[in-house]
Amino acid sequence: MLLDGEAIKSCTMLAVQAEGSSITTIEGLASGDRFRELADAMTAEHALQCGFCTPGVVVSLVALLDTRGDPDREEVLAALDGNICRCTGYNGVLRAVERVAAIRRGERPEPMAGVALADPVVVTDVRAGGVAGADVEVV
Ligand code: FES
Repeated sequence: MLLDGEAIKSCTMLAVQAEGSSITTIEGLASGDRFRELADAMTAEHALQCGFCTPGVVVSLVALLDTRGDPDREEVLAALDGNICRCTGYNGVLRAVERVAAIRRGERPEPMAGVALADPVVVTDVRAGGVAGADVEVV
């Protein structure tokens, strides 16, 4: 979660310690542009499988991208510290952050090799039963 805009591990903090602070969870990010650009990039780069780790990964990377628009790999790995993905490894996640940074620089990155997309995939509702049940629109 974000505590006053900083990514922290909610499981290592007592609720009383957050008194008076602003808390943002993955649900709080779901409708915003900060979430959308990263979600689109993660979709294009196949950066998740089961999704168990995805909320923590997304919240951590949104916080990173809020402060570093074009982070290097070491910064991304540092931001991901403590987010354990059992499925994908982290290559897709790293590519997704690089995709966001490239788009912010005005570039139009190619989709991942083997993925035949003309443009980024827009997942319009990730809460509709996961990616398999989501309404996916190619723009
Ligand atoms: S996508 Fe399954 S644990 Fe990360």
